[in-house]
Amino acid sequence: MCGITGYVGARPGVRTVIDMLRRLEYRGYDSAGVAVAGLAAGSDRGDLEIVKAAGKLAVLEGQLQDHWEMQGTAIAHTRWATHGGPTTPNAHPHYSCDKRIALIHNGIIENFQELKEQLGAAGHAFTSDTDTEVMVHLVEEAYKATGCMETAVRKALCQVRGAYSIAVVSTHEPDTLYAAKTASPLILGLGNDENFLASDIPALMRYTKRVLVLEDGDFAVLNRQGVRVSTRDGEPVMREPFLVTWDEQTAERGGYPHFMLKEIHEQPRALADTLRGRIREDGRVVLPELEAFTAARLAAFTRISIVACGTAYHAGVVAKKFFESVLRRPAEVTVASEFRYGDPLVGPDTLCVVVSQSGETADTLAALREARRLGATIVSMVNVVGSSIARESDAVIYTQAGPEICVASTKAYVTQVMALYLLGLHLAASEQRLSADELRAYAQGLTALPDAVEAVVAQALSVEDLAARLADKSTFFYLGRGYDYAVSLEAALKLKEISYLHAEAYAAGEMKHGPLALVEKGVVVVCFATQPALFEKMLSNLREVSARDGLVVAVVPEGERRADAAADYVLRIPAVLPCFAPIVAVVPMQLLAYLVARARGCEIDQPRNLAKSVTVE
Ligand code: M6R
Repeated sequence: MCGITGYVGARPGVRTVIDMLRRLEYRGYDSAGVAVAGLAAGSDRGDLEIVKAAGKLAVLEGQLQDHWEMQGTAIAHTRWATHGGPTTPNAHPHYSCDKRIALIHNGIIENFQELKEQLGAAGHAFTSDTDTEVMVHLVEEAYKATGCMETAVRKALCQVRGAYSIAVVSTHEPDTLYAAKTASPLILGLGNDENFLASDIPALMRYTKRVLVLEDGDFAVLNRQGVRVSTRDGEPVMREPFLVTWDEQTAERGGYPHFMLKEIHEQPRALADTLRGRIREDGRVVLPELEAFTAARLAAFTRISIVACGTAYHAGVVAKKFFESVLRRPAEVTVASEFRYGDPLVGPDTLCVVVSQSGETADTLAALREARRLGATIVSMVNVVGSSIARESDAVIYTQAGPEICVASTKAYVTQVMALYLLGLHLAASEQRLSADELRAYAQGLTALPDAVEAVVAQALSVEDLAARLADKSTFFYLGRGYDYAVSLEAALKLKEISYLHAEAYAAGEMKHGPLALVEKGVVVVCFATQPALFEKMLSNLREVSARDGLVVAVVPEGERRADAAADYVLRIPAVLPCFAPIVAVVPMQLLAYLVARARGCEIDQPRNLAKSVTVE
């Protein structure tokens, strides 16, 4: 996730914004840059300088020796690539053509392509592949027409669609910073005769503890004397400053005790970002990444083979079901380490869908290479731009989870599932397998998911009692049918990896073929019953467990009461389209795993024996 910092005041601007940026490194990034408008020490230069570099902050710092003591209003940025690879030209800030305006951005501009064409026709030259660069040219164009920076930035914002927090500095008004926010975070730090802005509070804490959190649609003007906040249209708004009382480490985690909890809470935003710009009004899915594949080429893939490891494999299990239901043809999902040595039935007629958060997992990469060797076409779902899997794929659909720091995957999983749904719907629409009404219904169902997840996250407290009751148990089963079986796999993995408890997932109908022998008093059995068509069957499984004194936790849609009598504990989740329930049903299980691990005193963000990116076999 990109990091933004900005400073206006008497301190050396470059030094200050880079120091602040260092405190945002935990967000992950692949390049960095800084812009300063003002005077170099001992010089009368009044220009706007940008210095940027691919790689870590140290690389940028190496190029800043002459700038370190420069006074002047400054902005700086760490970039987590979304549009365009992690290169120096794509790093922020971006210049206007006349090099008098510089802009940094966190977010995604959905309509950048059409704006780029319009601006290109008006004579603007672009130097990067980013979506961001259009914004600085829009500001420049509006400044030419109005001669007022504030109006120019406002006008530019009115033309873009998408998510953004931005900061703008210029030689037209070198003592002023302009900032705005919609969807991506932006915080102002209030000082004495100086002011600051940043994507997150840790960047500000060394300089001021008085902060003000901008809300969606806010527009801010900062100079030494103060800050002024209004709507994008200029209506003044009041945002109450408050005093931050966290220490720096807590602040890095946004006030959460662990990254895992922070990332669980980020899921509604991550889902919304993965969906952003993907659904047309008529319900059709927009995947420009697959533009090169004609409908005839897509329809010619007689086999779909999904490969991945761990949590990403579980996302693939959901996708297999969904692909088969909307495409009415077989899809396979295989653990990458089995695929690579399994003499897979793959050839030129195969669409190989590779799923990976890191894009670097050794087994998954090897499976991709094996599929390619056998002639398959590779479409990958990856979270890290420019990673090995992304580079070696024919097309990449990036999930927009942002950097995931906790080893146990949460927000990456839900965004993978979301991206896979989008792919399934795109294929189905291109093969004309769904009516216009069906497409619209699926689209509405997807659009409802961020709020549904938000509702579950907001009820985190309701899982706390249950976690306290389960923390001393030692055997857990997770049961489900259909989509619920797919969720069971992921729910069991979450508990295992962070609480070190034995958890097994089973297709519910399999219990009586063996595992039921293990059920006795004290054994916990989580039963997912989110699928109306299979509810009665799940109810029977639940009763089988209850009759053997197992402790039953039922996960059901809101309004469903039929499991209440047989279950010891009922967790209710918002009712969504049954095929999309995995994204919602997994969330209470992530919270449960987290709370059980916490109650057991486990190391949550870095569980024993595990690594975030498994780059060895
Ligand atoms: O980076 P990847 O998605 O390729 O990683 C695959 C697995 O190692 C990963 O999903 C792992 O299972 C999770 N950390 C579990 O939470």
